[in-house]
Amino acid sequence: MSLLITNIGELFTNDDDLQPASDAAVVVDGERIAWVGPATEAPAADERIDAEGRAVLPGFVDSHAHLMFAGDRASEFAARMAGEPYTGGGIRTTVGATRSASDEELRRNARRLVGEALRQGTTTLEIKSGYGLNVPDEARSLRIAAEFTGETTFLGAHVVPAEFADRPDEYVALVSGPMLAAAAPHAKWVDVFVERGAFDEDQARTILTAGIRAGLGVRVHGNQLGPGPGVQLAVELGAASVDHCTHLSDVDVAALAGQSGTVATLLPGAEFSTRSPYPDARRLLDAGVTVALATDCNPGSSYTSSMAFCIALAVREMRMTPSEAVRAATLGGARALRRDDLGRISVGARADLLILDAPSHLHLAYRPGVPLIRTVISNGVPQ
Ligand code: NIG
Ligand code: FE
Repeated sequence: MSLLITNIGELFTNDDDLQPASDAAVVVDGERIAWVGPATEAPAADERIDAEGRAVLPGFVDSHAHLMFAGDRASEFAARMAGEPYTGGGIRTTVGATRSASDEELRRNARRLVGEALRQGTTTLEIKSGYGLNVPDEARSLRIAAEFTGETTFLGAHVVPAEFADRPDEYVALVSGPMLAAAAPHAKWVDVFVERGAFDEDQARTILTAGIRAGLGVRVHGNQLGPGPGVQLAVELGAASVDHCTHLSDVDVAALAGQSGTVATLLPGAEFSTRSPYPDARRLLDAGVTVALATDCNPGSSYTSSMAFCIALAVREMRMTPSEAVRAATLGGARALRRDDLGRISVGARADLLILDAPSHLHLAYRPGVPLIRTVISNGVPQ
């Protein structure tokens, strides 16, 4: 089945050879984009959508989400808004709820959030484990996550669970041994929370190199709550992405800028929901670092599935231009997942497209909180 989208007011392609165009058209054939050009030259297709002058952009690529959990932590959020600081300690509350949940409860919660994200324009979603923290619960989290996405990430090293509190090195051995072996068949990536109170540099290196040996790609949670070794380790190990990047030294920025192939993924929902200073996106962009934006959707530090909200925060609070923010939420996310087929509107790319209820991408930041995603086309299929 082919589909012609015509009368596009602004086509935001992320293709450097195709400048944002007005009065453009796109043809989708099956799951791929088959043609892009001026509406007057568009070929015929089986079906047609008249965009009536609206903006069209690639589907959002949310490259960082923790959707395998049960329960919520609304009271923790309320306490933070009353002045309590965020610590990663609340993760253990969600671990308890997740271990007690049935497979069907975990599946239902993930399905709800994946649906919520899709309706808001997210056509690709990474999903992490990390609230099981034992062999069976990490393995089943990933097995269920794989029902929703190919971009699954093993985060057994989220925090040291309570039962290993005085034996962290035994937990590292468990994660890099039997837990990894049970998780790897369902995972594409391995991730470690490198932070004071979570895992240090040596522990993280042990787990990540074991993940590499098991055939997984590397992602890192780093430099979220304070300065630390996360960025340097991510670059050293050839990580696809290092995520948070809130507290960076000049050496960290230089390492990311130097042809590292490691994307800096910024998660402004976390700073919003923990009332923390935002990362300096301008500093990274001006240094030439590839930046992605993602939601970090999780019940503790950032319970949002809205990429549009993250774009608005990035523009208002992190000095990104609207166009840089939309690019980071689409092409940036694709790069953070090392996917060449996503995040752009050009021939051969996967047919993931959004039609906005607005004439330009600017409105995603200019009209914060407004549901502007009018039509979502995922894998060639209007939703
Ligand atoms: O990315 N930083 C570590 N993990 C999550 C928070 C998880 C939680 O608080 O439950 C994050 O922000
Ligand atoms: Fe996270």
